[in-house]
Amino acid sequence: MIPHQPLYAQRRARLAAQLGEGGIAIIPTAPERQRNRDSDFLYRHDSYFYYLTGFTEPGACLVLTAEGAATLFCQPKDLEREIWDGYRLGPEAAVSALGVQAAHSSVTLDAQLPRLLENRASVWYPFATHAGLAARVDGWLNAVRARVRYGALCPAVQNDLCTPLDEMRLIKDAHEQDVMRRASAISAQAHIRAMQRSARMLRAGQDVYEYHLDAELLHAFREAGSQYPAYGSIVAAGANACVLHYRADAAPVRAGELVLIDAGCELDGYASDITRTFPANGQFTGPQRALYDLVLASQDAAVAATKAGARFNDPHDATVAVLAQGMLDLGLLDRNKVGTVQDVIDSRAYFQFYMHRTGHWLGMDVHDCGSYVEPTEVGQTSERRDPLSGETITNRPSRILRPGMVLTIEPGIYVRPAPGVPEAFHHIGIRIEDDAIVTDTGCELITRGVPVQADEIEALMR
Ligand code: GLY
Ligand code: MN
Ligand code: MN
Repeated sequence: MIPHQPLYAQRRARLAAQLGEGGIAIIPTAPERQRNRDSDFLYRHDSYFYYLTGFTEPGACLVLTAEGAATLFCQPKDLEREIWDGYRLGPEAAVSALGVQAAHSSVTLDAQLPRLLENRASVWYPFATHAGLAARVDGWLNAVRARVRYGALCPAVQNDLCTPLDEMRLIKDAHEQDVMRRASAISAQAHIRAMQRSARMLRAGQDVYEYHLDAELLHAFREAGSQYPAYGSIVAAGANACVLHYRADAAPVRAGELVLIDAGCELDGYASDITRTFPANGQFTGPQRALYDLVLASQDAAVAATKAGARFNDPHDATVAVLAQGMLDLGLLDRNKVGTVQDVIDSRAYFQFYMHRTGHWLGMDVHDCGSYVEPTEVGQTSERRDPLSGETITNRPSRILRPGMVLTIEPGIYVRPAPGVPEAFHHIGIRIEDDAIVTDTGCELITRGVPVQADEIEALMR
């Protein structure tokens, strides 16, 4: 039996109850993908499929009826393929291992799907997340239509399965929260290792490159049992930190500069997502520290705004208010040109140095699924003109936070040289990112195994 089998059965039952009378759902796992000749990318299952099965083999598909019957299609046992590619569970063992009602070889999928779809009222499948699936569903439905003159009924309605599944995935249950806490703890240790390696090598007079710190992260992830990084690690030395999607590369890490690391492991299907920015040699300079403390203060404000009943946008608005004031105080923005802090917020003048949002949902996917609009208020629209682009934007009330939602809180400041920007701040890029589980009274920061206070970072690098 796979671990936590009853949990997946409960999720299937909850989903089945939302399919409506006569509904049937189809959820394939992810395809294997070629990297280059004879070499595939490391396989990663589909998150929706895993959420409902806990099954990580490629080549599988789940079919679920509104009555709660789950049929799994999976790779058949094949001794020769298993010698080359590894163990396969096979349909016979799948029934009891996964707790499904029936299992068949995936080779029979195209033959069996029309039979399963026949006489159903509606078919649900994920729209736009599984390339080619819509065309396959069309093919299966055409096979049903070919039998209508024999009295068969063909589903007349197609629905996006992501709609109910995204809502389910948005609230993390106790098991998911536990895995995410463990993933976060591993990632926190990895960040500490990378910080300490940077200071240690520089003190020893050795050349340090971004890839040395990336190697520390990977080592710590795998050493603790994580399967892989949850996303491409960002290890950005010096000015590279101002490139938001920079990837760990081969630039030198120099004493006197900052290093921004945005990296998190994936553990048993769940992502963690941490950013720390630290002085390469363990000692902040004055201007670095001033900007660092500002970003940290803005994160504190965002954390305080993260609680059940608040809106998803509240932490962002709290961050922006603190950053805008700090940009004026530190002279990044000129009061004579941009006006008061409220003017900076209204005109989005802060965007020059802070051009991303303060967080996103986190779960099996690093940018996890789930609507950012409150579903009960989608009709309450208002319009505003964006002061920077001039575009008219339709606003909808942002999501009300509820216990069990997990989001990142990740303010930053990125200073590219520009006229009027004090030189002392040029090329400094800082982001501080923690992962938060929303609770009734506030939020639980699950990534604080790695410190954020500047003094504490300096202490652990000494
Ligand atoms: N690491 C991706 C992000 O922070 O959104
Ligand atoms: Mn993030
Ligand atoms: Mn991140």
